[in-house]
Amino acid sequence: MVSAQSMMATALACLAFSVAPVAATTYSMVKEYYGSSFFNEWTFYNNYDNLTNGDVTYVSAQNATAYQLAYVDTATNHAIIKVDNTSTVVYDNKRNSVRITSVDSFGVGSLWVADMYHVPYGCSVWPAWWSQAPLWPQGGEIDTFEGINTNTQNQMSLHTETGCTAVSQNQTSTLVASTNCSYAANSDQGCIVTDPSTASYGAGFASSGGGAFVTEMASTGISIWFFQRSQIPSSLSGNGSIIDTSTFGVPVANWPSTGCNIAQFFQPQNLIFDITLCGDSFTADGATWNSTCSGICYNNWVMGNGTDYNNAYFEVGYVRVFSTEGTNTVVSPTTSASGSSSTTSGSSTSSSSSVGLIHGGFWMTATVLVLVGLFSSALFTLA
Ligand SMILES: *[C@@H]1O[C@H](CO)[C@@H](O)[C@H](O)[C@H]1NC(C)=O
Ligand SMILES: *[C@@H]1O[C@H](CO)[C@@H](O)[C@H](O)[C@H]1NC(C)=O
Ligand SMILES: *[C@@H]1O[C@H](CO)[C@@H](O)[C@H](O)[C@H]1NC(C)=O
Ligand SMILES: *[C@@H]1O[C@H](CO)[C@@H](O)[C@H](O)[C@H]1NC(C)=O
Ligand SMILES: *[C@@H]1O[C@H](CO)[C@@H](O)[C@H](O)[C@H]1NC(C)=O
Ligand SMILES: *[C@@H]1O[C@H](CO)[C@@H](O)[C@H](O)[C@H]1NC(C)=O
Ligand SMILES: *[C@@H]1O[C@H](CO)[C@@H](O)[C@H](O)[C@H]1NC(C)=O
Ligand SMILES: *[C@@H]1O[C@H](CO)[C@@H](O)[C@H](O)[C@H]1NC(C)=O
Repeated sequence: MVSAQSMMATALACLAFSVAPVAATTYSMVKEYYGSSFFNEWTFYNNYDNLTNGDVTYVSAQNATAYQLAYVDTATNHAIIKVDNTSTVVYDNKRNSVRITSVDSFGVGSLWVADMYHVPYGCSVWPAWWSQAPLWPQGGEIDTFEGINTNTQNQMSLHTETGCTAVSQNQTSTLVASTNCSYAANSDQGCIVTDPSTASYGAGFASSGGGAFVTEMASTGISIWFFQRSQIPSSLSGNGSIIDTSTFGVPVANWPSTGCNIAQFFQPQNLIFDITLCGDSFTADGATWNSTCSGICYNNWVMGNGTDYNNAYFEVGYVRVFSTEGTNTVVSPTTSASGSSSTTSGSSTSSSSSVGLIHGGFWMTATVLVLVGLFSSALFTLA
């Protein structure tokens, strides 16, 4: 027997569900980039950096292998993605580096984990682990990890069309530099959250054994967790194919759907690793550059024998992608129903992914400086 009252309650619950979906917290693994097959399903950019104007040539897959700039270390099974640190670069030439984009993309309801032991750092070095949709800014961009020079903290951000803002953020970081995610606002700095942990970037990341970056793109919001190695939750370290984000605690950065309709502003994301050198008003910008480095970015760092780049590498344990349990959010170019030829999936991924940029250069340092100021005054107040 079902009472009218409970039927009414059920009907209301269903209505509520259809209007505002409850956060899904359980995900199952649908894709793994790991070990000897790590590099199998990525497109190498194979062009000089015409996206952020850095002083690098992003090599082809063939040259990445030939020059050992993207390879799997057979001793550890870790993937290495690096800047050339063995060639001498003379004036007007660029230094070789790597930019790779996943062939598949991953829709709303996805979560991805990058387990890393080392991230690139050093003067002139600008690395990122991020994602974007082929159509930018329409399909959105999520910057999970972005660092610069010898800074010590990871910077996270979203970039979207106008209408997406960061409100009611339920996150551990209080370092919020900007809340308008629109590419048209504030010179496309995005809505930025900085990780307070100095284990989240640079030498501090490496010395604590690295860690895991988790990016959740749910209809209820986008969240990023960073766990340094000693704090990786058991459902991740245990290698399980099912994970439950409700066991992860409050994320370090969070953009709830309250201020940003995720389904409207985000389309399936291609995952990207890249490392550029100098480039767009970033290291070249006086404030950014001078906050941790000196000299002239290209002349004093990129040129020369490359020993300055011994730390300019990603060492990746694995990248795994999960879908909300019971769904499959993987979008493969070969299975997409576009009707056009799908045999050039690799190159179409490459060309489409070249549309967007990773942004926020100037603002990142502005943020860091402001935060340093805040910290200093906080310390001053305490003292
Ligand atoms: C970058 O270069 C590639 C290869 O020449 C080209 O397809 C792409 O349109 C260029 N992108 C920009 C933003 O100039
Ligand atoms: C590899 O690098 C060499 C030397 O820089 C260049 O001439 C060649 O075009 C590259 N090959 C590919 C396939 O990118
Ligand atoms: C965000 O920036 C865009 C572009 O400048 C602007 O149109 C919009 O009103 C801004 N949103 C908020 C909430 O300020
Ligand atoms: C995790 O999975 C990889 C293969 O995906 C396997 O090689 C490794 O041994 C596993 N680690 C643990 C702790 O089970
Ligand atoms: C913030 O998130 C945590 C779990 O991630 C949840 O327990 C808590 O209720 C949330 N707080 C608010 C104000 O939504
Ligand atoms: C760094 O600061 C010095 C001294 O203020 C200035 O001369 C120099 O131009 C700045 N560097 C850059 C790249 O702007
Ligand atoms: C590389 O160049 C730097 C600066 O010019 C120099 O100090 C260093 O000894 C060189 N290293 C090698 C291995 O040639
Ligand atoms: C280049 O960097 C790697 C670490 O990424 C290091 O093992 C190697 O010794 C460096 N090569 C030179 C010539 O310094």
